[in-house]
Amino acid sequence: MPTARSSTQSDALFARAQQLMPAGVNSPVRAFRKVGGTPVFMAKGEGAFVTDVDGHRYVDYCLAWGPLILGHAHPAVVEAVTRTARDGLAFGTCHRNEQRLAELVLAAYAPFERVRFVVSGTEAVLTAVRLARAHTKRRLILKFAGCYHGHGDQLLVKAGSGVVTFGLADSEGVTVQAAQETLVLNLGDLPALEALFAKHGNDLAAVILEPLPANNGLLLQKPEYLKALRALTEKHGTLLIFDEVISGFRFGNHGYGKLVGVQPDLVTLGKIVGGGLPVGAVTGKKDILDRLAPLGGVYQAGTMAGNPVALAAGIATLEALSDGKVHAHLESLGKAFDERLASKKSSALRAPRVGGLLWPYFDGKGPLPVEAAEISSAAVERYHHAYRGWLAEGLYLPPSAYEVSFLSAAHTVAQVQALADALAQTAGA
Ligand SMILES: Cc1ncc(COP(=O)(O)O)c(C=O)c1O
Repeated sequence: MPTARSSTQSDALFARAQQLMPAGVNSPVRAFRKVGGTPVFMAKGEGAFVTDVDGHRYVDYCLAWGPLILGHAHPAVVEAVTRTARDGLAFGTCHRNEQRLAELVLAAYAPFERVRFVVSGTEAVLTAVRLARAHTKRRLILKFAGCYHGHGDQLLVKAGSGVVTFGLADSEGVTVQAAQETLVLNLGDLPALEALFAKHGNDLAAVILEPLPANNGLLLQKPEYLKALRALTEKHGTLLIFDEVISGFRFGNHGYGKLVGVQPDLVTLGKIVGGGLPVGAVTGKKDILDRLAPLGGVYQAGTMAGNPVALAAGIATLEALSDGKVHAHLESLGKAFDERLASKKSSALRAPRVGGLLWPYFDGKGPLPVEAAEISSAAVERYHHAYRGWLAEGLYLPPSAYEVSFLSAAHTVAQVQALADALAQTAGA
């Protein structure tokens, strides 16, 4: 049985943090509102482990929400960052690292010809949408209910009750006008998509989605659905934007589109491409990307865009992925996890998984959800209720049932089997 965890240091730090920052955090989900209790303040990350300020060590399945595919403080990444930092933290000029990371991204995303680096996934998405509007000279965009694409005004928009709808803002401070230029549909509903295109297709600048929606549960889409979306967008001259902030470089040195046989017009990247430091990117063919200033009229700029130290972390990470061994390791870990879970014969837990990305879903009945509204609230409750028990067992999962768990190069078969055991135990198996 797990022993009670002391959290004296985290408690004290959190009490002070709340006097300094809204809810004591710089990103909402870190506040542990869904799982309750004091957020765990981390002090150190090493391989698959994180250690908190009270000295507890956890196997980390949150992994900074996805960038750390190599694990914490990977020696090659730390060495590259340290070496680069010694030569200067920032120049605000051109430098060599930009070309190296651009080559790595474009080799993976061929036939794309251009990439621009920004600082976050949010910025990458904002830039992609602006480019799409400029390229098509159209106003509307389409996104899918429950899908998160960063916190730009036009993307903080949700659906009405499952019908084609003009968006309502999800956040105060987003104007009605900004939200109304975003149409929202439920994922996976082909007739609704066809109906929307029949009505608005010729006014749609872009459709944006994660080809593997992984930011609100793991909502696996059928390749035929993605192919139909590609055909509709092509027919109507609408750009297809794949948001690969999570999926990019996670399943191989290529885009997710290669796995499903769909070529998008633009791809947004973040997380892995920065190897743990702040990097985002938008990539596509030059007829679209060259619309960016100063070649074209689409303005985008950034003091820290393409920062040499951040790009060094991205380069070291992508180079470590380049021989495919890490991806193969992640798949074999995933299989070991699947097998262990299957051996538990739990009727109250499933864990859909692609490569090193998995989603514990505490509902054993019916088809797995393909759209956000299908996620069972009882399953969500169960995850949140179990969370502090997992902490006590030395497992650090994302503190929200809607988030996927990540595996890294540093994780072992024994660790993922222990994860399967703990989750099955929660499910009562
Ligand atoms: C699919 C997707 N798009 C965009 C973003 C925003 O990226 P960032 O948090 O780097 O701004 C995220 C963040 O989790 C994401 O998962």
